[in-house]
Amino acid sequence: MKSHDLKHNSATGHVTGRSVYVNDMESGPGQLVARVVYSKHAHARITDIDVAKAAGVPGIAAIITAKDIPGKNQMGPVVHDEPCLAEGEVSFAGQAVVLIAAENEEAALEAERLVRIEYLPLDAVLTLRDAIAKNALIAPPRYILSGDAAGAMEKAPLKLEGILETGAQEHWYLETQSALAVPGEGREMTVYASSQNPSETQAIVAEVLGIPRNEVEVEVRRMGGAFGGKETQANHVAAWAALLANAAGRPVKIHLFRDDDQIMTGKRHRFLSEYRIGFDEEGRILAYEVELNSDAGAATDLSLAILERAMFHAENGYYIPNISITGRAYRTNLPSNTAFRGFGGPQGMAVIENAIDRIARLLKKDAAGIRKLNFYGIDERNQAPYGELILNNRLHVIYERLLISSKYEERRAEIDIFNGRHRWKKRGLALTPVKFGISFTTAFLNQAGALVNIYKDGTIQVNHGGTEMGQGLHTKILGIAAAESGVSARHIKVSSTNTSKVPNTSATAASSGSDLNGMAVKNAIETLKARLKPVACAELMKAGAKDPHHGGIVFAEDAVFTADEPEIRISFPKLVMAAYLAQVSLSATGFYKTPGIHFNRETGRGNPFYYYAYGMAVSEVETDMLTGMYRLLRSDILHDVGDSLNEQIDLGQIEGGFIQGVGWCTTEEIKWDDKGRLLSHSPDTYKIPTAGDIPEVFNVELLRDYPNTGTIRKSKAVGEPPFMLAFSVWLAIKDAISAAGDHRFEPLFSLPATAEVVLLSLEEIRKKTENIP
Ligand code: MTE
Ligand code: HPA
Ligand code: MOS
Repeated sequence: MKSHDLKHNSATGHVTGRSVYVNDMESGPGQLVARVVYSKHAHARITDIDVAKAAGVPGIAAIITAKDIPGKNQMGPVVHDEPCLAEGEVSFAGQAVVLIAAENEEAALEAERLVRIEYLPLDAVLTLRDAIAKNALIAPPRYILSGDAAGAMEKAPLKLEGILETGAQEHWYLETQSALAVPGEGREMTVYASSQNPSETQAIVAEVLGIPRNEVEVEVRRMGGAFGGKETQANHVAAWAALLANAAGRPVKIHLFRDDDQIMTGKRHRFLSEYRIGFDEEGRILAYEVELNSDAGAATDLSLAILERAMFHAENGYYIPNISITGRAYRTNLPSNTAFRGFGGPQGMAVIENAIDRIARLLKKDAAGIRKLNFYGIDERNQAPYGELILNNRLHVIYERLLISSKYEERRAEIDIFNGRHRWKKRGLALTPVKFGISFTTAFLNQAGALVNIYKDGTIQVNHGGTEMGQGLHTKILGIAAAESGVSARHIKVSSTNTSKVPNTSATAASSGSDLNGMAVKNAIETLKARLKPVACAELMKAGAKDPHHGGIVFAEDAVFTADEPEIRISFPKLVMAAYLAQVSLSATGFYKTPGIHFNRETGRGNPFYYYAYGMAVSEVETDMLTGMYRLLRSDILHDVGDSLNEQIDLGQIEGGFIQGVGWCTTEEIKWDDKGRLLSHSPDTYKIPTAGDIPEVFNVELLRDYPNTGTIRKSKAVGEPPFMLAFSVWLAIKDAISAAGDHRFEPLFSLPATAEVVLLSLEEIRKKTENIP
């Protein structure tokens, strides 16, 4: 089996239920369960907390409030504005106030009922509009400016303006937030976490316990999904479990109930964006002014980086010579919003994609053509608003190929005929592109480490800083290690992620897990191969080879040999044993940092991205004019992953990312009541896509023959970019609504386009159609 065909290393484990998650782990007798008592108020002063009665429940091992935290009451990852437990005040419904550890769940729940917290409710900011009206900024506004947007807007022959609201999104990882904390000798604490960022989990646990980081070990075997929701907010359960374990002197596991998880944790940022766009009669965009306003929630978390990425993607794949992008993040009394696949990119892109759709409708032209007209050029019209040159632009080749493979033109004509013949059913079609910048936009985070051990039997253990959340990173790393070492994958093991093996790592995020960690692993293996080469030369000479120095040593097929005499070979285990006896170190660290990226936040200019990933989708929907219901008939996707590290995994990422995006664009709607309490906190009120929502015809292809340069095995990151291909579905729905009025009126539209939104929009169109015969 070629290393890039490896099956996902948990495939069997997942379907047989043998894969181990935190909640499957038992650290032995004495392990306690925990409950987190959280605020029911969005904003209130805490006037009293009484845990005396709760503490009297048999089986209670520890009860903790803010005053019992031995270290700092702090768990903000970047800005330290997030208390670990509420102190004096609560700033959102769902905020942790009291922690309980008990022998069993019944006792914990009984104690929770007896905890008394007295509140004095305060005014709460619950909507973005209210936050904007109150100017409740979380940080100063940010700008990216290029050309003369105001001047060009003034001169533009045609203009449109509008507001677009895009909704929040719940991560809905199958495994809710979980952690198992096991106290050790002295101050030691080991945490088995479900975290995308073990190093930061380690840092936060050390901080709340008031101990140095070298006393804390965090291990992550795998997550049952994360999607950004465990980039920072997995630290919380880890910190709580560690505080309880420290207080009780016994292991403590926290595994949040689904409803609690949805109530307590942050989501994708809602945005309210205002824009003006100027263009000519052809549909060429001349000027774009956009103000992106995000709902950060109660604390900063990653909101500023997310806002920045939204700004970096405000123009998506389009060259806009005069542009002004403003970003503002506002504080509200809701759980702190956080990373979610795309990391602001989707929110920024939705605005321009909808604006281009509006341009096409105004000009009565097909939107795909307007998009193509505005794509970044290959050698000209290729500078992003922040100054980076868009090199190796794949939009044009993808467009040419996808237009043909999806039969775009023919189907556009067929749909027009269908819509002419059907009064109560209308079909819509849309093509949308994605250009997504790859790299952490916080430049120093673009680093990774690895530790590769070769054991005396010739087997290899690979440790790296990345975490497995279902995206197949460990399988890709396994393939990379096999290809770089020449040892078959069955002799290589990729271990759990552990802060004691690889320290100071970045989160597995920004889709860069395989880019960064793959390079670090390659680097470690190169070090080991360099050490093994002299041994290989000596052993090959003993076996009768000519002077191997000239041929060059090849590591392949579980052996070493020279290119000149491939029949004379030493097996890898034999080589390893010889190296051990020759006192050669068989363990090496590896390191990688992405070269050449930088960005100046003051000037809004720089090269924040190492490269871009591209993709495009064409989707067709059918909408019921009477109910607003729609079905996804067909989606065709062509996506650029460079030379794939693993085709099955990449296809899975594209399909999964796309469908998760479809959920955000269509059915996933988060609602709070007027007190800031989450209404949609379980699957019966929050609709994520299921098998029935997958398009009836689903053609997903990788762009062939376009290797990337300068990346691990010429690959490209794939985790997040396909999410945004879902705009094709969103705008196909809009196209179907528009067909209801014979494309004479512009539909009202927002994101998500729920059946309710569609129905209201259809009603509007119907009224207009009746007024104008
Ligand atoms: N795929 C699965 N199955 N589960 C996940 O949690 N997270 C996504 C993406 N794909 C996720 C996933 C997100 S938000 C990111 S940033 C990347 O995976 C992270 O992994 P990578 O960098 O290894 O691609
Ligand atoms: N993506 C994900 N996480 C991050 C980023 C990013 O671009 N920057 C900082 N944290
Ligand atoms: Mo992904 S949102 O960068 O964890």
